[in-house]
Amino acid sequence: MLGRGSNSQREPPFILPTVPFVGHLVGILLQKRKYFTSLSSKYRLSLYSLDLLGGRIYIVNSVDVLQLIQRLPKKLSFWFIEAKFGAKLAGLSKQAEMKLLDNPQGEKGDHSLLWGAMMAIHQNMKPGKSLDQMNQDMARHLTTILRDLDAEDGETVDLWEWVMHKMTLVTTESIYGPLNPFREKAVEDNFWDFSDNTAMLLAGFMPKIIARKGYKAREELVLAFEKYFAAAGPTTACNMIEAQWQNKKTHGISMNDSARLECVNSIAFLANTIPTAFWVVFHAFSNPTNLSRLREEASKLLIIQNDESGRIFRILDATRVRDNTFLVSFLEESLRLQALGAGNRYVVEDTLLDGRYLLKKDSLIIIPNEGFHSDPSIWGADPKIFDADRFLRLKGKKVNPASFRGFGGGANLCPGRFFAMTEVLTMVSVLALGYDLEPYSGRWSYPGEDHSNMSLIVPPPADKVVVRLRRRSGWEGGLWSVRYEV
Ligand code: HEM
Repeated sequence: MLGRGSNSQREPPFILPTVPFVGHLVGILLQKRKYFTSLSSKYRLSLYSLDLLGGRIYIVNSVDVLQLIQRLPKKLSFWFIEAKFGAKLAGLSKQAEMKLLDNPQGEKGDHSLLWGAMMAIHQNMKPGKSLDQMNQDMARHLTTILRDLDAEDGETVDLWEWVMHKMTLVTTESIYGPLNPFREKAVEDNFWDFSDNTAMLLAGFMPKIIARKGYKAREELVLAFEKYFAAAGPTTACNMIEAQWQNKKTHGISMNDSARLECVNSIAFLANTIPTAFWVVFHAFSNPTNLSRLREEASKLLIIQNDESGRIFRILDATRVRDNTFLVSFLEESLRLQALGAGNRYVVEDTLLDGRYLLKKDSLIIIPNEGFHSDPSIWGADPKIFDADRFLRLKGKKVNPASFRGFGGGANLCPGRFFAMTEVLTMVSVLALGYDLEPYSGRWSYPGEDHSNMSLIVPPPADKVVVRLRRRSGWEGGLWSVRYEV
């Protein structure tokens, strides 16, 4: 049922809850993202409002409206959310919280704590020298992991746990350098316990009691990052971490608050990257057609060398991974199907969108990906099916880039996407060429998604996928490595 907002008739139409006052809240808590998807497909409105205990949220359900929103990144802001929720999630001191919330949009000049941190990431992770250096480190660490894989030949593993551990290490080694705190397994475990419990920590009320597991894990993680900063870890890390460290120093942030901010930072680096890696591996191995196509394309990046004693060296050239349009299409299609979470924006001031919709200050805008990613008018008649060539076919056709939400969009388009794509595609290319993954149960079945952590764009699998890892027949022996040349 549609209705009007209490304050203004110009706000987007309100959908009234079936149970007065609490209906929407209960719907969101019980159904999570599905609640928005079902309202969007039932009412087919481009933009609508939900009254949540007196406050309101606006739900976006049209690419045109989304583009209007993305044109106003300072009024309809993601940075404000990062500052406000980041401070709470980190458990910052009052003083550091005030600094983080001061000028988060950079409109009073680009010298604020948040703006400086964002610039450090955006500038150092776009294609160029700093990113090349990270990719070289990534290639080195992936090589180490590949060499260790020989010892795991024939082993049975939980695929999610396995990908999570390996890729957390590769990612954090490339980012934090030789003093990477994640080398300790306990730090990795604390990170995931913290990341999995963000919603509880953000709920705010007495987090030490209500969000006990996440709180404890975060405090352990803070200690690990304090140690890292005390040992001047950032001076040996990638340029992005060093630039962020300088930024924290410029703003007089204490060691403890720096460590707290780093806990939140590491969520941006890892929380969507690792599930993406899992789903790409899953789609690659669970379908024989996908696997043989992927092997064919990955072999174009393979260099085989022999030494005098006849030893084989198999080298994957990661430098060219993102130039392979099929591989990129494979990753994008994986994200189209699996990046089912929702983007957010905060209404910093009353804003009249396109002269049509009044958005009220201090409201939240929610952009549920699922509707965008399953719209047949954008993706064709079979949007539920994994089609590795879909993005290749659509290249050059008139698909609005805002329709693909895997890396978000507009001014906040994920700055880590180049690194993440290279890393994930390199890993799956080597795995597909050199290994077989056999499902322990005898056949692959889709594990479903675990949507309990609503802050994720890419949810992890809901059920276990147990596989046996084997060197691929005909590809035994030889030494694998990855190289990245500039
Ligand atoms: C496959 C892996 C990844 C996925 C799917 C992903 C996805 C996203 C998405 C959906 C957003 C929100 C954009 C928006 O709302 O418009 C985002 C923002 C962001 N991501 Fe990623 N991300 C990934 C990897 C990374 C990595 C590896 C890093 C850094 C090393 C990173 C750093 C960031 C940052 C800093 C932002 C905020 C940008 C801003 O507000 O200006 N991400 N990412």
